[in-house]
Amino acid sequence: MKYDLGPGRKIETAVPLAPMDLEQARRLGQAECQDTLAARNTRLTEGDVLTLRIKRFDPEGSAGYQEYRAPYRKWMRVLDALNWVAENDASDLAYRWFCGSKMCGTCAVRMNGREVLACWEAVEPEMTIEPLRNLPVIRDLVVDRAPFERKVAELEPWIERPSRYPGFPEPLSHREMKNASKALDCIACMCCYSACPVIGLGDLTDFAGPAPLVQFAQTALDPRTDQEKVRKSLKLTGIFNCVSCYKCEEVCPANIPIVSMVIEPLKARAAALVPEMAKHSLALRAIVAARGRVDPSALMFRVQGLRVLGNLPRALRLLLRGKIDPIKTLFRRTTEAAGAASRILRKQGRAP
Ligand code: SF4
Ligand code: SF4
Ligand code: FES
Repeated sequence: MKYDLGPGRKIETAVPLAPMDLEQARRLGQAECQDTLAARNTRLTEGDVLTLRIKRFDPEGSAGYQEYRAPYRKWMRVLDALNWVAENDASDLAYRWFCGSKMCGTCAVRMNGREVLACWEAVEPEMTIEPLRNLPVIRDLVVDRAPFERKVAELEPWIERPSRYPGFPEPLSHREMKNASKALDCIACMCCYSACPVIGLGDLTDFAGPAPLVQFAQTALDPRTDQEKVRKSLKLTGIFNCVSCYKCEEVCPANIPIVSMVIEPLKARAAALVPEMAKHSLALRAIVAARGRVDPSALMFRVQGLRVLGNLPRALRLLLRGKIDPIKTLFRRTTEAAGAASRILRKQGRAP
């Protein structure tokens, strides 16, 4: 069904909208009517009571949860519920928002264990609302974004050309820009940073984290950027600590394919420009190409060399648990997949 909401605002929905819904869509500018809060929140009706358990910060003691109730209004967002609580029950509640429309990225919180934008997420009958993880909490739901901003500044995400500007229009193809242009959709909300388990390990790794990497990719994956500059910045990313778990992608409100179109292309760039960073991944590919299987003991030897002998108790534990098999390694046992694995990796230009 097609609707005309005014100049330049046409929408199409799978099911016809009731006159009231259409009027509200017009008023709120929700052109994506299939994605309206009303459509997403069918379990609530006007006047139902919402329960909010909000994590409050106490600089003197430990943080705790406080419970509030708010009346449900049609198309209510998490932000509307927070606003209701702040206006009626807890005037000292600290939370952040600015645009109210998924543009500025400032309102991200965790709702029922998942990172969401408060201004975009439909309310649930019962909600536990907490600040983002992996960033210091300033107060209640407000986190300090300084660690992210420092890392982004360190990575210098701007274009420096290796040659003179050729003049407008620049010859750029869609294929060359497809990864960088996905990264440009980022609204710096930090949902991915909060969801990343490797960032959760703190100083155990030097991983920059998904949000700084997406900012970096905006220019690093742009063909106009000097590759020497990219090489220097890549050294500061610790990118091979990413375990490709896709948690960041699952929560990204901008739907950026963070792993496949940002982190994997950056890893490939790092393997080409800073091969010493990719020692583990290059060794793994060489083993898979040669043997058609992952061989953990061969991988240990390739990456750590004779240092493995310095940690014999650990190697013994792995042996007892069946994690490594030196016999298979020493006799270079291959599987019948070896030929195919080698061909595929060579075809992708990823064979060592
Ligand atoms: S895929 Fe990588 S960056 Fe994304 S959450 Fe997992 S470890 Fe973090
Ligand atoms: S990549 Fe997505 S989740 Fe991460 S900061 Fe950008 S918009 Fe937010
Ligand atoms: S308030 Fe700007 S994205 Fe939510």
